[in-house]
Amino acid sequence: MNVNGAPTRTIWPVARGRAVDIIDQTTLPHEYRTLRLSTLEDAARAIRSMQVRGAPLIGATAAYGVALAIARRADDTALADAVATLAGTRPTAINLRWALARMRALLSPLPAAERADAAWREAAAIADEDAEQCRRIGEHGLQLLRPLAEKRGRLDIMTHCNAGWLATVDHGTALSPVYAAFGAGIAVHVWVSETRPRNQGLLTAWELGQHGVPYTVIADNAAGLLLASGKADAVIVGADRVAANGDVANKIGTYLKALAAREAGLPFYVAVPRSTIDFACPTGIAIPIEERGGEELRIGLGADKDGHLARVRQLPADAAVANPAFDITPAKFVAALITERGACNASEAGLLALYPETRGG
Ligand code: MRU
Repeated sequence: MNVNGAPTRTIWPVARGRAVDIIDQTTLPHEYRTLRLSTLEDAARAIRSMQVRGAPLIGATAAYGVALAIARRADDTALADAVATLAGTRPTAINLRWALARMRALLSPLPAAERADAAWREAAAIADEDAEQCRRIGEHGLQLLRPLAEKRGRLDIMTHCNAGWLATVDHGTALSPVYAAFGAGIAVHVWVSETRPRNQGLLTAWELGQHGVPYTVIADNAAGLLLASGKADAVIVGADRVAANGDVANKIGTYLKALAAREAGLPFYVAVPRSTIDFACPTGIAIPIEERGGEELRIGLGADKDGHLARVRQLPADAAVANPAFDITPAKFVAALITERGACNASEAGLLALYPETRGG
């Protein structure tokens, strides 16, 4: 999608296969910066510190992290260490483990001398496939949104966190149908919830603004009122993991939006690529929820009067805080899962109908 009018991805290869560049998401929307990742440690740090974030982008970065490690040392120990280091960065997004398993399955049987080129090609394939799958999510999501838009002559979508192109390699998951609707000439507007404590909603506002899609940022607590008073046609979010029964782990606060949407009689959609579906995880209860550091609540990030990045302490360092980063939305609140293969019920039967090859493990 666009940054200053130029088509841009969130991660791209440079230095003839020896490094990747990323958009540093810790300084947006205040400053647009790119960063070079040249080593396994760079990739692990980028994921852990959320310079890259969003389940699909975490997966693509982990794949490139393996490729960067293997470019330096390609023996079995180096491969195992790279996979273990990257697997330890963040626990909830299954895309991370999915990408690492795919890299290991490809590389393990190869002789060490062939691993570096193969790793680089596979990481690039994972990134390209993610972009294409997200584009298709947009096409399928548009089929669900068209009737809603035809009813009112416009479309108001509420989203949470950032599940746009910044959270993927390109196009986004939840925002891909929005971009498709915008591209199809539908008058679409997005309610963007701030998403405390890390304010990923501001990333959503930034990327929508870069693309020219109208949006309004709201405090998280305003969502219930807006949904109850008919100000939105649907809620669309992404996910970090979908369990085999259709339960959804996504950014903390998602569950409250699902409850409010149900009460208001509005569809609550979850847009995910295959890499976010964990068929080995029976229900949402089994999904590990990341607990992040308390300073994310105690310290706010913004721009000072000169436009420079500034940190502001909102709570004393000894204030007790809890910071669970994700919650679980039970499948019964999800109107449909929107995938690259089409939409389905959030249920085991719905998922197996779309992905019959996963039947029997
Ligand atoms: O903690 P984050 O910013 O990585 O969390 C991101 C989300 O919760 C997204 O909604 C999810 O990963 C889907 S991204 C297409």
